[in-house]
Amino acid sequence: MIALIALQSSAKMGAKTTGDLPRMSSITVRKLDERLKKRLRVRAAKHGRSMEDEVRAILRGATGDGDQDDLGIAVHAPEVRPAGAGPASPADTPPVATTIRSARILLIIGGGIAAYKSLDLVRRLQDRGARLRCILTRAAHHFVTPLAVGALCGERAYTDLFDPRSELDVSHIRLARDTDLIVVAPATADLIARMAGGRADDLAAAVLLATDKPILIAPAMNPHMWAAKATQRNLARLVADGVRLVGPNAGEMAERGEAGTGRMAEPLEIAAAVEAIMRRPGPLTGKRVLVTSGPTAEPIDPVRVIANRSSGKQGHAIAAAAAAAGADVVLVSGPVNLPDPPCLAVVRVETAQQMLAAVEKTLPVDVAVFAAAVADWRPRHASQSKIKKHGRAPTLELVENPDILSTIAHRKSGRPRLVIGFAAETDHVVANAQAKLAKKGCDWILANDVSPETGIMGGDANTIHVVTADGVESWPPQSKNDVARALIERIAAAFQETKR
Ligand code: C5P
Repeated sequence: MIALIALQSSAKMGAKTTGDLPRMSSITVRKLDERLKKRLRVRAAKHGRSMEDEVRAILRGATGDGDQDDLGIAVHAPEVRPAGAGPASPADTPPVATTIRSARILLIIGGGIAAYKSLDLVRRLQDRGARLRCILTRAAHHFVTPLAVGALCGERAYTDLFDPRSELDVSHIRLARDTDLIVVAPATADLIARMAGGRADDLAAAVLLATDKPILIAPAMNPHMWAAKATQRNLARLVADGVRLVGPNAGEMAERGEAGTGRMAEPLEIAAAVEAIMRRPGPLTGKRVLVTSGPTAEPIDPVRVIANRSSGKQGHAIAAAAAAAGADVVLVSGPVNLPDPPCLAVVRVETAQQMLAAVEKTLPVDVAVFAAAVADWRPRHASQSKIKKHGRAPTLELVENPDILSTIAHRKSGRPRLVIGFAAETDHVVANAQAKLAKKGCDWILANDVSPETGIMGGDANTIHVVTADGVESWPPQSKNDVARALIERIAAAFQETKR
């Protein structure tokens, strides 16, 4: 497997590495053969990682002396930790908690072809110690039977709002309340629309309306239905209402020749999202955290933008780490090619002005981390139609974008208690970061060297200097997930300090 992956990787990347971490952006797990994929899935589940992170761990292991595992591949995570960064993670895993033991989960199965995967999801959740109850919508009966679902759950599947048996033994109100979490998988476009509209016209909708428990939805539908304005509007409504989302993924659809975003997240991904929601209280429980991430894209005309090379990996990792530490997280993200981290609210924006508006709307927060690479300038006028080539290059008049970090850090009222910025520099990294700390009025700056030879832009590793009014703390090179974890630990420690 290593040979296969390394070949794909080096063919595209010219075998370029980031520190000791191979750059992984060209690897497509989906393209591995089924047998390898299955073994990779089992391994990833065993280690509580995503499949891509498992591949990263394997590749990392291939360069070290780790133990042989069941694939006959050495697995070894480089042990590089910053001083005071807390315990090392076993590998570069996204930070999610690991227990859902004894949680009561109500699984609502909607009517889509992905419903067959929900049977696997039942098993995955049970394997983690969860207790399952299931509701099937009428449409779901076309894809899975109440008998099969009931047999797996060890309790009959609920199907009908006016089923006298349901009302006698478990009413829809009790179904809604006697649970720790409701998972809707697959969440079809129709079910999402009915949730957003507050309908109660069948058992699933009535329970979703009546519940006071967290709801996680795993959308699954045709890519056109997913991209439809109505679906996105309904989804934005649900996210604003606090509903959490896992997936959908990009890939091939059930219909031949159809591909795009709309595949339901894999049962293991849904189970990981459930674990993250069900985690024990963490060091940031009760804290509200805002993270900006990714680039902004400033329109020149309907097809062209001014943007930058930010991948959003560091910002997304920070948001995921904060959520795993128990915080209530809002991630305001520019256009990125990354899945939404589970168990947090994501607000998608395009431009710096939209990002500022979304940030201001999210306040008040306890902590704000500004990891986005905001475009410094935007065209004064974006053309409404595509600018044609007339043999002469157009002249763009640029105006400065608002400095979001500085605006929030200088707020007289409603300033977050901790405002953290980034400084991506190519020279005099620390000196420039110190100047930025003063100018922007933030509390900490995380400075990093983004010269092309460091591979930090778009890569998986980062080297950080934490610049504060008290001095400079330099962290050794480590993965962006580990940087995120270390930052969250430092934030939690800062709140502990102020409590004393
Ligand atoms: O000035 P510079 O872009 O180097 O500052 C970097 C820091 O400021 C980052 O934290 C970035 O998110 C933030 N920033 C911002 N709005 C801008 C420019 C930068 O929030 N318009």
